Amino acid sequence: MGFSERRAERHKRRHVREMLASARTVGADANVLGTPLVNGTDLEIGDRFQIISGHRLTTLGGPGRIRIGHGVFINAGVVVYSDVAITIEDDVALANEVYVMDTSSHGIEGREPYAAPVVIGAGTWVGARAIVLPGVTIGKRVVVGAGAVVTKDVPDEVLVAGNPARVIRPLTYPPHCQRAWHDIYCFCPGSLRNPLPQS
Ligand SMILES: CC(C)(COP(=O)(O)OP(=O)(O)OC[C@H]1O[C@@H](n2cnc3c(N)ncnc32)[C@H](O)[C@@H]1OP(=O)(O)O)[C@@H](O)C(=O)NCCC(=O)NCCS
Repeated sequence: MGFSERRAERHKRRHVREMLASARTVGADANVLGTPLVNGTDLEIGDRFQIISGHRLTTLGGPGRIRIGHGVFINAGVVVYSDVAITIEDDVALANEVYVMDTSSHGIEGREPYAAPVVIGAGTWVGARAIVLPGVTIGKRVVVGAGAVVTKDVPDEVLVAGNPARVIRPLTYPPHCQRAWHDIYCFCPGSLRNPLPQS
């Protein structure tokens, strides 16, 4: 590695440390592009975390417990706000402007705000501008269609879409495929980590 690469690497690491300073723990190989507002007070982040803050500010905060697994990708404009507990398991992707909340923040009809834990299962892909409401558990390797409003629990390995989100169909995966979303870094057939055999 040459001088300028080493300098770029140092700059990247410093940026990651500064941007994720409020987290109790951050795993290896985190990458932060842009300037997200990360100020959760009970936040733990796993390995290979990627977060982008670009055309819209990305925010990750609140006084609740936020647990982020390994290999999680959070895109620009995402809001994760916790008063209670939000768990984002391994290999989850939150697309642009997804909103995940575990509290309604305001009560209605004279009641207290509704607040309950949220879980997003391993390998799930939440499409752009989807909203995940308090109390919802989304299963593993689910695809949440763009713009969906998820009001109820979602089982494993289905496509859900719409407002309110409904199951469109079950999903099937090739063997060893861990994620509902595929990119060059995943372990699915044909990816960089798992190239298809040369003929
Ligand atoms: C869900 C998605 C992946 C398409 O999956 P698919 O298996 O190809 O689904 P299809 O296009 O065959 O659609 C199946 C049905 O679901 C409906 N549907 C698909 N996506 C939908 C959505 N986001 N909202 C509402 N309905 C949707 C289709 O209209 C279709 O309905 P029909 O059977 O009544 O005609 C895609 O529509 C989507 O939402 N992608 C998210 C992209 C994104 O957010 N990218 C972020 C980049 S970081």
